[in-house]
Amino acid sequence: MTHSRNGNLFFLIGLVVSLSASMVFADDEDRDYSHGEDAQEFVHGSPETISEPWLLAAGGRIYDNWADALDRELPESTHPAYPASSKQSGSTTWRCKECHGWDYRGAAGIYRDGSHFTGIKGIEGAIGMPEPAIAALLRSSVHGYTPDMISDDEMPRITAFVTRGQVDVSKYIDLSNRAVIAGDATVGRGVFQTVCAACHGFDGKRLDWGEGDDHAYVGTEAAAAPDEVLHKILSAHPGVEMANLRAFGGDIAADVLAYLITLPEK
Ligand code: HEC
Ligand code: HEC
Repeated sequence: MTHSRNGNLFFLIGLVVSLSASMVFADDEDRDYSHGEDAQEFVHGSPETISEPWLLAAGGRIYDNWADALDRELPESTHPAYPASSKQSGSTTWRCKECHGWDYRGAAGIYRDGSHFTGIKGIEGAIGMPEPAIAALLRSSVHGYTPDMISDDEMPRITAFVTRGQVDVSKYIDLSNRAVIAGDATVGRGVFQTVCAACHGFDGKRLDWGEGDDHAYVGTEAAAAPDEVLHKILSAHPGVEMANLRAFGGDIAADVLAYLITLPEK
């Protein structure tokens, strides 16, 4: 598998490789990892008979980055509802997490200040909201998510996530300083070594999404952004073949997180 974020040379090599092996998808720079055609259904599609854990995790990936989750492109323009005075711009402002936060609390949570501050409220007030109302809100001019972006078939994933899929992040992470405050690292070690290590390695260093000497391993990410990692443990990283723990619930995910912060960051 070629990592394709390292500039034009690698992009071109990736392109040649993918042209010669037409089974390889996603050679453009927005995608983290290429995957084979046989994985397309798992990564971007849907099972025939949908289970609740699959639905909520799939919705969580849309919340993270709907374009990577659904095999689309994010618009290049800045989202019209993104405040001009805030620090981000362009495609990332179309991600739900950019306005509402990894802790789902928007300006009342970790994004209360810093480079991701928008002043926009979170979505925790929408827990229990009827799904048609959430869908209407996402199609409304505030959000502007057209059916080309998130189709009517895909919409139930994100509405289910909003109304039933949010965990209370403050149970596991101190939102004032981002410290991990719960979770049994011994239980987490068992889950990590038997599940996550299949791809990330026992030390979490087999996959590296950093640039050059700036490594980014699971241990690096868990220390810097535990709220983001908790979200990904429960929903998986969008656009790649990754397992997730949605079927087992937030407490187990927090056990894994407590172990991840003991892994090497470099
Ligand atoms: C560019 C910023 C932005 C992005 C991106 C964004 N939203 Fe929002 N969202 C808003 C604003 C602004 C409101 C209205 C907040 C208010 O009423 O004060 C809102 C409100 C909401 C609400 C209602 C919250 C409540 O308690 O009433 C939900 C649910 C919601 N958004 C879900 C989503 C989802 C799901 C996505 C991604 C598919 C998303 N949003 C992406 C800006 C954004
Ligand atoms: C089947 C393989 C596989 C398994 C199992 C797996 N992952 Fe991943 N994971 C991936 C891939 C592929 C990526 C994308 C790496 C990249 O962006 O280069 C990833 C990315 C991540 C990321 C970072 C995403 C980012 O860029 O911010 C985290 C955190 C993570 N995984 C944690 C876990 C944890 C914890 C487990 C166990 C519960 C797990 N993964 C299990 C394949 C896997």
